[in-house]
Amino acid sequence: MGRHLYKLKTQNDLETVLSIKGLSKHYGRVKALDGLNLEVKKGDVFGILGPNGSGKTTTLGIILSVINQTEGEFEWFGRKADRDTRKTIGAILEHPIFYPYLTGVQNLKIVCDIKEVPYSRVDEVIRQVGLEERKDSKFKTYSLGMKQRLSIASALLCDPTVMILDEPTNGLDPQGIAEIRELIIEIANGGKTIIIASHLLDEVQKVCSHFCVLQRGKLIYNGLVEDVGKGAVSLEVKADSENIEEVLVASKMGSAVKRERDKYIMTMEEGFTAADVNAYLFQHGITAKHLLVQVKSLEKQFLEILADSKKGGAQ
Ligand SMILES: Nc1ncnc2c1ncn2[C@@H]1O[C@H](COP(=O)(O)OP(=O)(O)OP(=O)(O)O)[C@@H](O)[C@H]1O
Ligand SMILES: [Mg+2]
Repeated sequence: MGRHLYKLKTQNDLETVLSIKGLSKHYGRVKALDGLNLEVKKGDVFGILGPNGSGKTTTLGIILSVINQTEGEFEWFGRKADRDTRKTIGAILEHPIFYPYLTGVQNLKIVCDIKEVPYSRVDEVIRQVGLEERKDSKFKTYSLGMKQRLSIASALLCDPTVMILDEPTNGLDPQGIAEIRELIIEIANGGKTIIIASHLLDEVQKVCSHFCVLQRGKLIYNGLVEDVGKGAVSLEVKADSENIEEVLVASKMGSAVKRERDKYIMTMEEGFTAADVNAYLFQHGITAKHLLVQVKSLEKQFLEILADSKKGGAQ
């Protein structure tokens, strides 16, 4: 009996907070989001990484029911979103609006009125984000970092189980960036599930436990941050043969076979070596004159994706 209870508890720990299935958003011919599937579990600090225009804000807008999807669905805590779900989620999308001539505290009290939260929460969230000293200064006198803290405080008012942050360190100086990252980590350590959109690999690596990568609305990676250092192995092959590409594909020892000038490059499947590929080619009448194994770290792959899109690859 005791054992059974324990099992239930561990299952509970792996509770799915957010489940996204086949989500798409089209703006005319632009596919801002294209068939996204994702799961976020309780306690994850989940990063959505991608270059400008890759669909991060669109994703957050849809799961917050601010934008309507074209196709697909999502569930919060195993249910379709309704008014109650929204109360368990604190979000900062784009720039929240505060009154410039009111103080931090006065602004938060207005949010309390809107969210029907008691004013007693204001002191608590001010303390949480470290704004005590400036809580009675007018909002317009705040630095960008302080404004961002106030936004986070505002999102924390209803003590949500999930926090959603869109580019939380945008525009901040290095110290401000470090402070906001610290704050996010603290909030995560307090047991909240956090979803962060960012175009900075470094930010995701420092703050998140899990992350996915979007490129032009498509999911191209989903995994653990600790796996970033690990690499995919690719194999370069040269041979004088017309059907080498077909044979490489047919071998099923690798994927994403592509041609680069006079050679072919494929990403190796786990469990196969260059020797296996060589033997397979030989069995199919092809003698390779060049075989080169290269390890490409995830980090390098992402930096290439992010750099490519800066050159104008983004939509
Ligand atoms: N209201 C809209 N009307 C038309 N196209 C839109 C609209 N909103 C977004 N898009 C397009 O959808 C795509 C995804 O945009 P989105 O804002 O989700 O990207 P993002 O990853 O958040 O980018 P960024 O890093 O710049 O914030 C882009 O091509 C964008 O131009
Ligand atoms: Mg965005």
